[in-house]
Amino acid sequence: MSDGIDALSTQQRRTLDLLDVGLWQHRARALDRMRSDSPDQSVAENPELDWQTLENAVASCVRCPLHEGRTQTVFGVGNRKASWMVIGEAPGAEEDRQGEPFVGRAGQLLNEMLRAVGLARGDVYIANILKCRPPQNRDPRPEEIDACSGYLRRQVDLIGPGLLLAVGRIAAQALLGDSSPVGRLRGRVHRYGPADIPLVVTYHPAYLLRSPLQKRKAWSDLCLARRQLEENLG
Ligand code: URA
Repeated sequence: MSDGIDALSTQQRRTLDLLDVGLWQHRARALDRMRSDSPDQSVAENPELDWQTLENAVASCVRCPLHEGRTQTVFGVGNRKASWMVIGEAPGAEEDRQGEPFVGRAGQLLNEMLRAVGLARGDVYIANILKCRPPQNRDPRPEEIDACSGYLRRQVDLIGPGLLLAVGRIAAQALLGDSSPVGRLRGRVHRYGPADIPLVVTYHPAYLLRSPLQKRKAWSDLCLARRQLEENLG
């Protein structure tokens, strides 16, 4: 017997997504379905995986329903030997069109923030938690984050950055597995993954565009990140 989601057409699923109406599924079953749907289910976990194979796997990914609405995947951009890796939430409309993260207004502010600590956009590597745009820029769902997480983990492994900068609540919570608000996660150095990579949380530039008074705190987060990296380099 098929369950509810099997009975829906692609068009119906898209409509539900546009309306941001979640269809209840048992979480474990939803995850199983995404994984078994994918021809690349183990590809991102493979420690031998090189950049090109990873990029191809992302470009053809159908691990979650977001692939149905994308113009293209947004893999990541920048220096693949970077010390700084910036991790945002998910592509927006402009990123979905151009195939590059942080190219809209928030991206321009991110570039300025980086410049303020002496970094050009091309010095760092920029990626997102999700590689596909959620409809109407809604928040990523936990099962979408789970389905995409192996790709980002492999990007981090390949780059081996000295520092991760998580911008915004979604990135910070997903990377740290902590549901605290950004205000409580920022201002200190966390550790990420088996390599214990230092991770600093700051506000998302889209939030800073709406709340410019918080820019002072973001500046202090970037200074903390720079200090941390300098200390690690000796
Ligand atoms: N916001 C993000 O978190 N990522 C992008 O790529 C664009 C906007």
